[in-house]
Amino acid sequence: MITPVKEILKMASDANTSVIAFNCVDYNQIYSVIHAAEKVNKPVLCMLYPEHAELNNWCTPESFAAAVQSVAAEVKTPVGLHLDHCQDFNYIIRAIRAGFSCVMYDGSMLPLEENIANTKRVADVAHAFGVAVEAELGHVGFAATVTDQSNLDLYTQPDVAADFITRSTCDALAVAIGSAHGVYKQTPHLDINRLSEINAATDTPLVLHGGSGIPNDQLDQAFTHGINKFNVGTEFFQLYYDTLKDFGQKYGSEGNIFDFPSYCQPILMDYLVKKLELSKF
Ligand code: 13P
Repeated sequence: MITPVKEILKMASDANTSVIAFNCVDYNQIYSVIHAAEKVNKPVLCMLYPEHAELNNWCTPESFAAAVQSVAAEVKTPVGLHLDHCQDFNYIIRAIRAGFSCVMYDGSMLPLEENIANTKRVADVAHAFGVAVEAELGHVGFAATVTDQSNLDLYTQPDVAADFITRSTCDALAVAIGSAHGVYKQTPHLDINRLSEINAATDTPLVLHGGSGIPNDQLDQAFTHGINKFNVGTEFFQLYYDTLKDFGQKYGSEGNIFDFPSYCQPILMDYLVKKLELSKF
């Protein structure tokens, strides 16, 4: 059942856990995410990352939203439609028109005041349409650059977070506490003390990015110390690609592309179910 992301975040906050948000690019991934969530009876979010979508012509915000909405209508579990990292105001408006109920404006590379001002500008418009806004304070970098996950200058400062939320009017805040996007070269060590301090200073759902490859015991801790939305992309895409390679190797020139969805979806769903079980709804 399509459900506003803000409602799902409230459910996560009330249950002191996190909803899992998966980056997807196509119907196979969207279908697998939503049906895996239905299987374990947990809310879930499907996220579109504009760079994935448009640069390689996978989908548009409109086609992505239509796919999520139609598959979500097949199930009872709450499904949220979220726009991931975006700096382009026009693209954000386009996503709002397409039906996304939460949009991320990512000003984390900008000076603080500019990040606040731009987030507020997006929030003013989004809120007028009943759409929630995720912002980022501090900067979650790339795992390929090891220092991105260890450089304390990039981490979210607890004493700035409350003021940032008040002035930007964001509805969810992505925090930098030691995670990074992509494949980790070194096991991340989340700064749970810092997370607790941010959580104590705010009462807005907090978001953890760079979810691929973080050990489950650290996730359990993060989910009980304020993280209410957990983003996963890289490992889901890697599994999808590996599944495609295995299918090609197994069936070779006898293979038929029409058999691929029923080959890959159960494999994707096995992975997704395990991930979703980290959510303690
Ligand atoms: P990973 O690709 O590292 O799992 O991160 C996903 C993410 O944070 C998307 O916003």
